[in-house]
Amino acid sequence: MALHDEIEHRRTFAIISHPDAGKTTLTEKFLLYGGAIQTAGAVKSNKIRRGATSDFMEIERQRGISVSTSVMTFDYGGKLINLLDTPGHRDFAEDTYRTLTAVDSVVLVIDCVKGVEAQTERLMEVCRMRNTPVIVFINKLDLEGRDPFELLDELEEKLSIKVRPMSWPVGIGATFQGVYDLYSRSLRLFDPGKTKVESNSERIEDLSDARLDEGIGTDAAGQLRADIDLIEGVYDPLNIQAYREGRIAPVFFGSAFNNFGVKEVLNAFVDIAPSPGPRPTDHGEVAPDDPKFSGFVFKIHANLDPNHRDRIAFLRICSGRFQRNTYYHHVRLDKEMRFSTPTNFLAAQKTIVEEAWPGDVIGLFDTGNFKIGDTLTDGADFTFRGIPAFSPELFRELVNLDPMKTKQLDKGIRQLTDEGVAQLFTQQPGNKKVVGCVGELQFEVISYRLEHEYGAKCAFQQIAAHKACWMTSTDEGVLDQFIRVKAQQIVQDKDGNPVFMAPSSYMLDLERRNNPEITFHTTSEFKTAVA
Ligand code: G4P
Repeated sequence: MALHDEIEHRRTFAIISHPDAGKTTLTEKFLLYGGAIQTAGAVKSNKIRRGATSDFMEIERQRGISVSTSVMTFDYGGKLINLLDTPGHRDFAEDTYRTLTAVDSVVLVIDCVKGVEAQTERLMEVCRMRNTPVIVFINKLDLEGRDPFELLDELEEKLSIKVRPMSWPVGIGATFQGVYDLYSRSLRLFDPGKTKVESNSERIEDLSDARLDEGIGTDAAGQLRADIDLIEGVYDPLNIQAYREGRIAPVFFGSAFNNFGVKEVLNAFVDIAPSPGPRPTDHGEVAPDDPKFSGFVFKIHANLDPNHRDRIAFLRICSGRFQRNTYYHHVRLDKEMRFSTPTNFLAAQKTIVEEAWPGDVIGLFDTGNFKIGDTLTDGADFTFRGIPAFSPELFRELVNLDPMKTKQLDKGIRQLTDEGVAQLFTQQPGNKKVVGCVGELQFEVISYRLEHEYGAKCAFQQIAAHKACWMTSTDEGVLDQFIRVKAQQIVQDKDGNPVFMAPSSYMLDLERRNNPEITFHTTSEFKTAVA
């Protein structure tokens, strides 16, 4: 196939949700349809469950699972679908945010009982940063959930996106009978427990058709007609362009566990989800059909065997064709590199790929050359944008417990933070190291891995920090002055940029008011703004 056809053929996306809404279950059903797995239960949850075993053992277990499920590729509806996995635990949310930079669209799962939850809002904020197209799947309709109209209103309100229902539930919980698919105008009746492949639905073009009353009873049919009337009156027809620009989200209802309403989402997904699109760089956009190869690293995975320090860097191909054993340009290191064992992640065993196309994700064997956000090209010197660091939420000072192992500790923390396990900030003089994380578990991972992989022992000490703020100013003099005066609260990020550690939200507001010439950013993205 020519480059253009390869691009058209691909859909690269992620399923995201607040933990427990049904991401793993929906993933599994998609894979069943795609023929990538044969039995239910084949997809292991990558959730870290507290309690049963010690946390770091759980984390190791999760790391083991997460390599094999990092990218799940399957064919459906004539498309080649790359489904990128995201961690199930909130503490590893930053990994999810980074994965979102490598997809072209997402499916967002909402629990119909709980509605929009905290993590749903954070994830959508990240999607909005890049205008990522979103399809919503409202799950668990077999449970006594909230009123569907109320859920739609909540989505619009809390996620700041317009919605358009594409299917509609007949009843909910005990009265749940099925979904009416507004997209294909067909009714599908609920048959709990069907976990493999759904039966065909009955097509009812005209809602006044008596078959509707026969199928679901006169009362439910009347209610459905009224609901659909209301929907058609209130919501505009789906504008696919607006969806692709991230302005409107089509919404589906169903029950992933019962494999109900899942096929509708998948069918709509292959029809409307965008193929790999152009990507912003510091030198303008790169179109996928640019014949010159380019891609970026959005994730790094360390080897599970502590005796082998090698890692896998996950590269998203953005343009042209990637070929095995060909020299490419590592832009940050200004170095030519070639890869003899690029892998894809199909099934459990990795296989070597000869070539890959825009939208594909491949694994590159890495001995320490890659950092998250690195760009590979076929010679050009540009860097992909849109892989920001977000301000961590917890900050601790890293304390070395074994002075004989200072070198190991330094190396370990540098490599782990290159991998994206956490963010590292340093302060001079004194080489004080501050580690920033999203959740407590990340600190546990770091101490465990530093000890087991690098032989270094550490402790984490509380410090007063609320947010890490990158700064820009129209007046460099003012910024320099601020950095000098606030030296106690200024640290350097991994690229040497000064970062203000705001001790509290009150102090941050105060500094913002006192220094109107300085903009305080809680993501690092602005650094790579188009030159
Ligand atoms: P996550 O990846 O988003 O965290 O969620 P996951 O799919 O693991 O689902 C969380 C729980 O919700 C699971 O139950 C799952 O079986 C259940 N679930 C998913 N879809 C539906 C649905 O349509 N209806 C109902 N009633 N439940 C659903 P669990 O008991 O936590 O785990 P498990 O023992 O079933 O694996």
